[in-house]
Amino acid sequence: GTSVITLDDLSIEQIRELLDKARYIDTHRKEVAHTCDGRVLATLFYEPSTRTRLSFETAMLRLGGKVIGFAGAQLASVTKGESISDTLKTVSNYVDVVAIRHPKEGAALVAADAASVPVINAGDGGHMHPTQTLADLATLRSRFGRVNHLTIGLCGDLTFGRTVHSLIETLCRFGDVRFVLISPKELRTPQYVLNRINATEDCSYVEVSDLSEVIGDLDALYMTRVQKERFFNEDDYLRLRDTYILDAAKLALAKPDMAVLHPLPRVNEIAKEVDDDPRAAYFEQVRNGMLMRMALESSVLGDELPGFADHENKEV
Ligand code: CP
Repeated sequence: GTSVITLDDLSIEQIRELLDKARYIDTHRKEVAHTCDGRVLATLFYEPSTRTRLSFETAMLRLGGKVIGFAGAQLASVTKGESISDTLKTVSNYVDVVAIRHPKEGAALVAADAASVPVINAGDGGHMHPTQTLADLATLRSRFGRVNHLTIGLCGDLTFGRTVHSLIETLCRFGDVRFVLISPKELRTPQYVLNRINATEDCSYVEVSDLSEVIGDLDALYMTRVQKERFFNEDDYLRLRDTYILDAAKLALAKPDMAVLHPLPRVNEIAKEVDDDPRAAYFEQVRNGMLMRMALESSVLGDELPGFADHENKEV
């Protein structure tokens, strides 16, 4: 199986197939319940997580497999100085697939190079979060019937927001997306991500600071948390954390069918009153995250979903 460090490790056809598989899994829970019988997943989480770890694990359990791992590195041998490479060479003896989250950019690639089983990046510092993007794509597709031909606003911490970087990278491959990048000037999108948009003929971007000014143009608004753990300086964090707060008044300026996405966890950036608005799609993202991880885990293991190949479920 292939490791997935960024979604560039998968072809567009493979990503489309994962979207189809997730949809199939959702309506064929019983049929797929033994797809990964006998398999073991390791979740190696060196950084906090609620959704990503629990959904990777639930996904494997719902496919019939088993799970080992650690959540919070304080109980693992990294505290004794063990390297990522040695950890992965070790864990490769125990399991069939690994999901790793680490605070350092590039850690998942180092892990994949050392491992003899597929490694899935569950977030590496401020770099990439490919399985979040799979959840985001599934949510866009369920809202719009497509993931492109859209104007997508990304708002908040665009510098360290790995979910944003992964999503932009992947949407550029689908093409025909207009990105509206909304952030304080201190938290602009990194150049390597902008280069990706520039290199894509039918994608474009604008960088702005004011959400209210642009919200009416957007088909989807991807809110992000200003991430305390990525700041070097607490004063900068405190100054920037509440720059954007999406509340009912601001949402009133948006299109009636705009989708509000957020990878979660949120702090203040989406007011709770927005949760009841039909435009709020962030808990759908959570659900899609589990389904997409079921699709991805079975695919990297080469385990066929019973009945999927014969199933007519193919769409855009
Ligand atoms: N979206 C996301 O990665 O959430 P967790 O940090 O809770 O895993």
